[in-house]
Amino acid sequence: MSDSQTEPSQRLQELRRTVAYHNQRYHQLDDPEISDAEFDSLERELKRLEETQPDSPPEPSTASVVGAAPSKLFQPVEHSQPMMSLDNATSRDDLEAWAQRLGRHVVSDLTTVCELKMDGLAVSLLYEQGELVRAATRGDGRFGEDVTANALTVSNIPTRLTGQNIPVRLEVRGEIYMPLASFEALNRLQAQTGERLFANPRNAAAGSLRQKDSSVTASRQLSFVAYQLAATQPERDFHTHWDAISYLADLGLPTNDHSSRTKGLDEIYDYCLKWQTNRHLNNFEIDGVVVKVDRLDHQADLGSTSKAPRWAIAYKFPPETQTTLLKRIMVSIGRSGKATPFAILKPVSVSGSMIKMATLHNEDQVREKDVRPGDTVIVRKAGDVIPEVVGPVLSLRPENTLVWSFPSHCPECGSDLVRLPNQSDTFCLNSACPKQQEQRIAHFVSRDAMNIEQLGERTIATLLREGLIRDSGDLYFIDFDRLLALRGFQRASVEKLSEAISESKGRPLPNLLIALGIPHLGKAGSQLLARTMGDIDRIVEASVDTLAAIDGIGPIIAQSVHDFFADPHNRDLIERLRTAKVNLVGPASSTTPQTLLGKSLVITGTLSQFTRESAIEAVVERGGKSPGSVSKRTTALVVGEAPGAAKIKKAQSLGIPVIDEAAFGALLETGRLEDE
Ligand code: IVH
Repeated sequence: MSDSQTEPSQRLQELRRTVAYHNQRYHQLDDPEISDAEFDSLERELKRLEETQPDSPPEPSTASVVGAAPSKLFQPVEHSQPMMSLDNATSRDDLEAWAQRLGRHVVSDLTTVCELKMDGLAVSLLYEQGELVRAATRGDGRFGEDVTANALTVSNIPTRLTGQNIPVRLEVRGEIYMPLASFEALNRLQAQTGERLFANPRNAAAGSLRQKDSSVTASRQLSFVAYQLAATQPERDFHTHWDAISYLADLGLPTNDHSSRTKGLDEIYDYCLKWQTNRHLNNFEIDGVVVKVDRLDHQADLGSTSKAPRWAIAYKFPPETQTTLLKRIMVSIGRSGKATPFAILKPVSVSGSMIKMATLHNEDQVREKDVRPGDTVIVRKAGDVIPEVVGPVLSLRPENTLVWSFPSHCPECGSDLVRLPNQSDTFCLNSACPKQQEQRIAHFVSRDAMNIEQLGERTIATLLREGLIRDSGDLYFIDFDRLLALRGFQRASVEKLSEAISESKGRPLPNLLIALGIPHLGKAGSQLLARTMGDIDRIVEASVDTLAAIDGIGPIIAQSVHDFFADPHNRDLIERLRTAKVNLVGPASSTTPQTLLGKSLVITGTLSQFTRESAIEAVVERGGKSPGSVSKRTTALVVGEAPGAAKIKKAQSLGIPVIDEAAFGALLETGRLEDE
């Protein structure tokens, strides 16, 4: 962002304006344009410049202002004590530096409370004689907005406190957030009614709380969690933050079940990493962990800077969205001929990995998002999913950018690109297109198919270009002497390739069925077909009805398999494979290592890399079991998106490890849980 050509004082002015602008978009308009990480980096730069330029002009420093001034929509509320922000840490070193800054007396007994950092908006609730009398947003930290009427519609905010020790007056602070299920339902509704979609649950929560009409807020299903006891009257003398929070829970206020009392830096960091890995396990978004010194007398000693308390720090997870420059839009051709637009990006680190390209899915998506070459775009990569372009930052769009239009011809073979009626996908219909051929062969040799590791995309392209092969069947008839004569091919590697191809002839029938790339037929379906029909000839000759009668094969797969083998080219391919002595008979003789013998894995929620069926299949294939419910014999509970809360609760109560998809992948591979 920083421009070395600009004078520091000029940059300072510019940064102040930019930070103030984005602050307003975030806090007042609930419509941020740039990612949090981008904002943090602007703010850091501003802070640095303000420090190095002591005689900076008279304007108030925006770097020390928290949030933005309250809008005119709601009555202003002056906070009894400022609602502060938190300093950030992004590494163990940052946490260590924070712990060192606490001073010796605290470090020697570093008892802390680690809490999830809820991604919503801060509110202060005031109870008098046990009744909720006022709710206020943070606003600029000193003055917030009165949102009492709306807070009263948030179902888990008690309108009346319960329990024994209800004080005359109590101020509690916490976060209002939108659970993911409510967020998804809201955006579905927005789409149906042609309204603008919310970028994330935090914006949706902020937009929903700041409504003039409380019935709208009520319909948005917000939630609240308390994280700080700000004041009580008569004053109560708690020793620790932990005790203060359990007092809040006793009064009927919702608190976070996942908070943990930790001792020393190792425990703090373990908690941070655990939740960084499991950040998608909950039905709400978190963007980090808040670490707080537990003893309240220590908190008082440490005090605050003008912006943030010294006794707490926010460990921020690596951002899952970032902004970067979209350099070009290109189209890639898949094995079915599908033309997928994708963005070439200025490399940027998202969720801990470097992203250079991101999918734009299809023509409609590019049009709806209106992303253009030259735009600064928001890129997202959540978990293991393919990175995608969320949309452009319109305020940063340069002049004279051009609307991108889908190419009319295949970039690989030049034939027409056709968009089929009522579909959002565009296709290159030339089945002889070299890229399609290359992709089909790349699929044929991929791991779950014929598993010929030595055959990368570059070698495939060379083989096609040199006329050594035309399709997958030709792989078994390569003239290796001709290959040897080509530049860059050494005898040893050609021999290895030849051996690997020969060896692949013995792969089980399900692998071959996958390799053929029959539309809709996945791994589980291939296994079922092979097991039931026994050999390829019966599958080739089977009617749609016979195929559909197989338990687990639906009418769409049945039709697709039938159509595939009705095509003379595909029948010819099978004959060539037969001539080459490729295995054409089942049942599946598993060559998969039996890593999960005696293990029982229960799966809940949606996984990104597996369907439910294929996940179960993967477990069974490795000798394990995958029943539908958790019991004391369960080895681990695998949790995907939107998991069943009851299963998680049961696993936790039985002390059974709850693991995410990445750990599941590792478990399939090694047969061991990560911390075994
Ligand atoms: S403590 C004086 N605890 O994070 C410090 N904040 O960047 C009060 N937040 O404005 C904040 N979860 O809106 C605290 N468990 C938690 C939190 C939390 C989310 C938010 C809060 C605050 C922001 C700081």
